[in-house]
Amino acid sequence: MPQDIKYNKEMCLEIYSKKNLLVFIIETNEKPIGSCGLKNIDPKKGKATFGIKIEEEEDRNKGYGTEAAQLLFDYGFKKLKLHQIDSAVSGLNIRSIRMHEKLGFNMAPPTKDENGKFRDDVYFTLSKKDWEEKQKEL
Ligand SMILES: CC(C)(COP(=O)(O)OP(=O)(O)OC[C@H]1O[C@@H](n2cnc3c(N)ncnc32)[C@H](O)[C@@H]1OP(=O)(O)O)[C@@H](O)C(=O)NCCC(=O)NCCS
Repeated sequence: MPQDIKYNKEMCLEIYSKKNLLVFIIETNEKPIGSCGLKNIDPKKGKATFGIKIEEEEDRNKGYGTEAAQLLFDYGFKKLKLHQIDSAVSGLNIRSIRMHEKLGFNMAPPTKDENGKFRDDVYFTLSKKDWEEKQKEL
């Protein structure tokens, strides 16, 4: 098992007990290839923040990220009864931006920092309504 995946598994176990955080290991053919999860889970506001990583380049671009996120959001919107999932991606991360678009996320307008410079990150929001609409297309 690659070291970074082992590390991720240990990290997942360590943080698993925190109530506002949920992490799943992504496996294919019983091989762990990455992790995805929700943090800042706020049951009152019905909001959470999405994170995902496929560890090895050879496992990327094969649809695993999109598929794992679909399962995670199904759990988040149905079981956790969330209304909105937010996400932030580096503006240079074209693959991740494409994955967010495929999942039905809406991109927020660019914002500037305190120095008036545009932020590098792209911010996304997925409402339960938009996610449900997206499911009809699949
Ligand atoms: C981002 C990440 C989770 C996506 O998961 P994945 O399994 O690789 O992504 P998928 O295969 O489901 O989808 C990738 C899409 O990007 C597209 N894509 C990839 N490179 C592209 C490029 N240079 N230009 C345009 N589209 C591109 C793919 O064609 C695919 O879209 P398609 O299905 O319409 O063809 C994964 O690549 C990863 O972990 N990367 C490193 C860490 C990271 O960036 N984490 C996310 C931080 S928010």
